[in-house]
Amino acid sequence: MAKDSPHKIILDRKKALGGRMVILGHHYQADEVIRYADFIGDSLELARKVSEIKQAQIIVFCGVLFMAQTAVILAPDKHVYIPDKHAGCPLADAAAIDDVLRAWEVIGELGRVIPITYVNSSAEIKAFCGRNGGAVCTSGNALKVLKWAFAQGERVFFLPDQNLGRNTARTLGLPDQEMAIWDPLNPPLPKALENARVILWHGWCPVHAPVMTVRGVEEARRHHENVKVIVHPEADPETVMASDAFGSTAQIIDYVKAQPLGTRVAIGTEINMVRRLSESYHAIVNIVPLVESACADMAKITPEKLACCLMELTEDYRVRVPENVIADARLALERMLRI
Ligand code: 13P
Ligand code: SF4
Repeated sequence: MAKDSPHKIILDRKKALGGRMVILGHHYQADEVIRYADFIGDSLELARKVSEIKQAQIIVFCGVLFMAQTAVILAPDKHVYIPDKHAGCPLADAAAIDDVLRAWEVIGELGRVIPITYVNSSAEIKAFCGRNGGAVCTSGNALKVLKWAFAQGERVFFLPDQNLGRNTARTLGLPDQEMAIWDPLNPPLPKALENARVILWHGWCPVHAPVMTVRGVEEARRHHENVKVIVHPEADPETVMASDAFGSTAQIIDYVKAQPLGTRVAIGTEINMVRRLSESYHAIVNIVPLVESACADMAKITPEKLACCLMELTEDYRVRVPENVIADARLALERMLRI
């Protein structure tokens, strides 16, 4: 007998589980996966969605592991699954909790310092922020969260993305002289921290930071007359400065929607999303990628793995966060959702 296709299995399982299951998908997922999502969003929208899910007991996350862990933290009574637990995030992995605690022994002594972590971080880092009066942020609300943090304290310890941190702090009007980088392999001398109002962990996203460049922006402007350039804030600050705008994935979509008919837009973010936007809006806006950059971890989620996950719903796919981490991590996430 012929084996059922992943497509059929997924549709059958969705039908069988009905309202008991919700599939969430991040914008960077491939078309052949995102088509099965009940809700698509950026990290902030997905976090909000999780905290609003009432009926469904099962959440299947088509995204990367830290997103599924965030769902567990926000909805510990639900069963959260991911089609491939190896879909990680090198940016999130750049901040190991032991290194961060060692840094905090120095940074925490500098006065009232508020730790803020980008949602692209481990559950332990979120818990560290929750325990120490800090919060989580996403690329969609980093400015609001940073303003909030400066209302609570004199300095901010921003983890783990130095680029999102610097781009946001610059938007707030802070000069680079008031920012310092913390590299655990080469920590700054205490003197270098004296004037630092923002201490940035040294992490960066390999999909955005090294590949989206000022040169790429200049080339886009040369090749496409009157092109508007928008990049994700995980891009490095010089590239962001050379662009017309920056924003989270949802903000990039809003930017495209707001353009007058016939505008040409170059987008600097993950290629699945750029291609999808280009196809969806081709009648209105002419979208080109700033550069073709794919996230290898997002690409680990495939229809085949989604079908297996839905068929089995076993521990192999279940995402767990240790009980002793959940409460503090939740504090940091809920603070964010209230800001
Ligand atoms: P946003 O969708 O929140 O902009 O995040 C992008 C990202 O890199 C997710 O890993
Ligand atoms: Fe992590 Fe960058 Fe991939 Fe986002 S795009 S999941 S930050 S590696």
